Amino acid sequence: DRVSEAAARLRAADSAVAFTGAGLSTASGIPDFRSDGGIWDRYDPMDFHIRRFERDPDGFWRDRAAMVAEVYDGHEPNSAHDALAGLEADGYLDATITQNVDGLHRDAGSDDPVEIHGTGSRVACRSCEARFDAEPYYEAVREGDIDGAPACPTCDGLLKPDVVLFGEQMPLGPLNRARTLTRESDYFLVAGSSLSVEPAASLPDLAADTGSTLVVVNLEATRADERAEFVFHQDVTDVLPALHEVTAEV
Ligand code: OAD
Ligand code: ZN
Repeated sequence: DRVSEAAARLRAADSAVAFTGAGLSTASGIPDFRSDGGIWDRYDPMDFHIRRFERDPDGFWRDRAAMVAEVYDGHEPNSAHDALAGLEADGYLDATITQNVDGLHRDAGSDDPVEIHGTGSRVACRSCEARFDAEPYYEAVREGDIDGAPACPTCDGLLKPDVVLFGEQMPLGPLNRARTLTRESDYFLVAGSSLSVEPAASLPDLAADTGSTLVVVNLEATRADERAEFVFHQDVTDVLPALHEVTAEV
């Protein structure tokens, strides 16, 4: 079947890279962004604009940090995260690039996933660039112990969850690593992303332009389908474990 064919190509690849989005984590109980009932149905994206944060950091921490904490906190990786970590452990996958800020690839055991939108598991200082574990800050929000933006323990600067907000520059280190991995890959597996924002929208093109076999696993159609050799409009928790199993079989 098609999974076996995709697995055979994966076995033969020199450098395989996975690229994931929010669809990877819906089975862990985290809503995606753009499906019905998704995060942008429940929240106004403009409330997550960097200018909104800068204008009113206290309000952001009082009202919106809870949403970030909800996405980040208390969820377990599912069989799709496990399958990618397993493929990597077995030597078939070189790296995972993700748009997700939930940290679940890391929790599943993927080695140093490239988090191009940052991670909700840390807070970052806007002045000195120090980073800290976010959990105590989220807990303070939950407990009502914080009534504004917390200050950096090092320099007293302003702390912000270490996730990329709208209007904000993406961290260049991860972005450049993602581009290099994509260019150098010869097998590029897109999973659980609508590919509707940059650079997600163009990474699969970059992969295809530079000679990768493109594989798409996503419930709905994406702009990358046209150039993909394998397209599975199915659940990632069905396809990725099967792909891992068949790839590891031989
Ligand atoms: P989206 O919500 O745009 O897309 C998720 C895709 O996953 C949709 O096309 C769903 O059909 C699909 N999907 C959901 N559950 C699935 C499942 N179990 N199996 C297979 N497919 C499934 O999320 P992203 O593409 O990740 O930015 O969105 C990209 C960025 O937009 C996010 O990182 C976020 C948002 O604004 C930031 O947080 C900076
Ligand atoms: Zn600081």
